[in-house]
Amino acid sequence: MTLNIGMVGTGWFAKVHADLLVGMKEVKLLAVCGTGKDKAEEMARHYAAKGYGDVAEMLDAHKLDAVYICVPPGVHGAIERTLIRRGIPFFVEKPLGVSTEIPASLLQDIEESGLLTSVGYHFRYQENVKRLQELLKGDKIGMVVGQWMGSMPEAAWWRDQERSGGQFIEQTTHIVDLLRYLAGDVTEVYAMFGSRVMHEKRSGVSVADVGTVSLKLASGIVASISNTCVLPGEVGKVGLSFYNDRGLLDWNPQRLLEVRDGNSTEYASSGNPYVSESEAFLHAVRTGDRSGILSDYADAYKTLKVTCAALESARKEVPVKL
Ligand SMILES: NC(=O)c1ccc[n+]([C@@H]2O[C@H](COP(=O)([O-])OP(=O)(O)OC[C@H]3O[C@@H](n4cnc5c(N)ncnc54)[C@H](O)[C@@H]3O)[C@@H](O)[C@H]2O)c1
Repeated sequence: MTLNIGMVGTGWFAKVHADLLVGMKEVKLLAVCGTGKDKAEEMARHYAAKGYGDVAEMLDAHKLDAVYICVPPGVHGAIERTLIRRGIPFFVEKPLGVSTEIPASLLQDIEESGLLTSVGYHFRYQENVKRLQELLKGDKIGMVVGQWMGSMPEAAWWRDQERSGGQFIEQTTHIVDLLRYLAGDVTEVYAMFGSRVMHEKRSGVSVADVGTVSLKLASGIVASISNTCVLPGEVGKVGLSFYNDRGLLDWNPQRLLEVRDGNSTEYASSGNPYVSESEAFLHAVRTGDRSGILSDYADAYKTLKVTCAALESARKEVPVKL
């Protein structure tokens, strides 16, 4: 059965997903929706699809089996609401929003309707994360340290606190989500954010450019996740490391390093997690079997709660319980 797909968003990641979708069997990208019809038509032409400047108009014109949402974090709300009302399953890129209010009300509607959703926490689908999950089985984790150290993305919305939520909510959310996925739920955060460099280098920067967050987990595990976007483009460090009495499990998107019990082993990353997450979502749309979806709206909402609590903690200068 061929699935008819719609795309909301005409930017970088909408195109990444669209390129993968058009390469899949029995999947057809029928329509693209952007902030304006012209922009949407320009992208749609490339995929032999139709372009729209309004989601409802796109949904009126086509019988879509699912929709992908790839828009900046501050835009979420009306798009999802329209899809929920029409009962159309959606895949949405992380994060779910810039605060918890709108996603909380969307989640309520999603749960009441039982709508199928999936969220783009792609690291969960990575082969070396599956290996890490296996290696952690039976381990008593001591502590976990993670980071997203990089440069500031070019998109103007990204440096605007209101539109992106800031680096911890927008980007480092991937690391917080992996922490939750592999080590369990977070019960308390204490964050310190700072603005050191970027507001002097670029105009319109209202996001913090350095931050460090201490996290307490329900299991008693203590974790720390730091981020910065002050680095020049050519250097960066993204990852999550697990420490215990057997040694170290050090993950980054390229490889997993196991240094335990006197041995050192490296596992390279293989496969494309963006393909795997889409395949799991589309399989669920086709068959109703949701077991391959590793992050749905309800789960991603828990990650959003942690990152938003970190922002609250940094603003109030106090620890925040979840
Ligand atoms: N999972 C990942 O690895 C990954 C990587 C990159 C981006 N992302 C996420 O994807 C999302 C989009 O990022 P991007 O890099 O594509 O940004 P972008 O700036 O390149 O594109 C955003 C697009 O959204 C469109 N848009 C804004 N408001 C809209 C609306 N109301 N209706 C329809 N379209 C609207 C804009 O016109 C633009 O085309 C972000 O949430 C980002 O975090 C995820």
